[in-house]
Amino acid sequence: MADPADADALRQSYQAVPYPSLPVRASHPSLLAANAILHGLLPAPVTSCRVLELGCATGGNLIPMAAGLPGARFVGVDLSPRQIDEARELAGAVGAGNLTWLACDLLDLDDHDLGQFDYIICHGIYSWVPPPVQQAILALCQRHLAPHGIAYISYNTYPGFHARQPVRDMMLFHTRGLPPAEAAPAARRLLEVLRASVGDPDATWARVLRDEADKIAGTPDAYLVHEHLEPENRPCYFHEFMAAASAHGLGFLCEAERLATFADLPDSFQALAPGRSQIDQEQYFDFLCNRALRASLLCRSDAGVGERVAEPDPRALFALCAAFPLDDPSGEVVRYRSHSGEFTLEDAAMRALLGHLYQRYPQASPVAELPALAAGAVSRAWSAGLCDLHAHAPPVVGVVSVRPTASPVARVLATRQATLPNQWHQPHELDAFTRELVTRLDGRKNLGPRTPQVKAALQHLAANGFLCA
Ligand SMILES: C[S@@+](CC[C@H](N)C(=O)[O-])C[C@H]1O[C@@H](n2cnc3c(N)ncnc32)[C@H](O)[C@@H]1O
Repeated sequence: MADPADADALRQSYQAVPYPSLPVRASHPSLLAANAILHGLLPAPVTSCRVLELGCATGGNLIPMAAGLPGARFVGVDLSPRQIDEARELAGAVGAGNLTWLACDLLDLDDHDLGQFDYIICHGIYSWVPPPVQQAILALCQRHLAPHGIAYISYNTYPGFHARQPVRDMMLFHTRGLPPAEAAPAARRLLEVLRASVGDPDATWARVLRDEADKIAGTPDAYLVHEHLEPENRPCYFHEFMAAASAHGLGFLCEAERLATFADLPDSFQALAPGRSQIDQEQYFDFLCNRALRASLLCRSDAGVGERVAEPDPRALFALCAAFPLDDPSGEVVRYRSHSGEFTLEDAAMRALLGHLYQRYPQASPVAELPALAAGAVSRAWSAGLCDLHAHAPPVVGVVSVRPTASPVARVLATRQATLPNQWHQPHELDAFTRELVTRLDGRKNLGPRTPQVKAALQHLAANGFLCA
């Protein structure tokens, strides 16, 4: 049984300090559908799918998705009525009518006739709620996932989170009894004083303090309060998470963000766990990279596809399109920064692919239309986290037209916050001048004289995927 006092305390905390929710790129149905297709599932078309977000806060993830997919249906649930009111107001302001909002505890969701969903998103919640709510999240996924649906659940993991725990404990000790709005500045002060006062700067402890203080320094107070200072925080090992998921009839599909796979690791490492299950292999991989966070994609164990394959079906690639948001791959030997770190690249097929995608960005390239050399490298580039594969491409344009257009969501949000979603559901911070320009990009207004500053801002918006057809 969950303690009603816990839910009340959490509700009050988000009522006092709402969470500034932003787009979570990897949770977009287009990427979830691509993962499903690559692993042999037959997901609903992205343009007409049904999406449920558990703990949607102020709707920063759901609203841009819904506005970009008007034929799909979205339901957002959150404990905090204040946040749901803000979400409802923003959805109205951007004219997105395909959203339903529920201000209620996840534990009470069964009182509502929800039906089935093709995608269920639960980001930034699982580790911050008590065990009965964790169980409820998994049970809701089991009950409400369509036969080939996908659940996206993110959570903090060991061993990586062990290093973060002591700093959190100290901040909690220091801020105990303070109201949420006062806790964040007090916690920052504590970290700064500790960091400045610690003796040997090369000692492990000094490095831990520095790392954590650096991570926290650039984050908003609301993030610090809810990510670090909530009393509930329960990281777990991946294998423990999967044991709980499996008890609810859910199986592992893959991670939402690709890192290298177990098969990419040195032979000596693979020899540690010969013939182990995919779950065990993923766990060993976490040991190696000291992973502190996962966003796992789950499907129903009875989806009829048996044990998940570690690698995607190459034939399925041809139904998808690829997009490449990273650096220019020209030059002799290229250094790439992927999700799994930085490395050099001399492979001609990979370079042909990344060069092509770079030229095309912000538009995507259907894999079926890629030059032959490049098409052969798609699977490897995707596996290494070097390009995204999407089941649906947004109507993004990379050139500035006579009457440039930004999405209604970006136009409304530009009057309210610095970080806006682009057409690829990526959060991107814009300066005040560019944001003011975005508010006028309705495709009808004459923008007046194109001064060098206006031209540069428009180019920046075009290059970063903000302009649409
Ligand atoms: C850290 S925020 C994450 C918000 C959002 N998913 C994001 O990533 O931007 C956690 C959210 O979960 C909600 N939440 C926590 N426990 C809940 C429960 N039992 N039922 C419904 N919502 C809950 C909170 O109100 C809060 O908005």
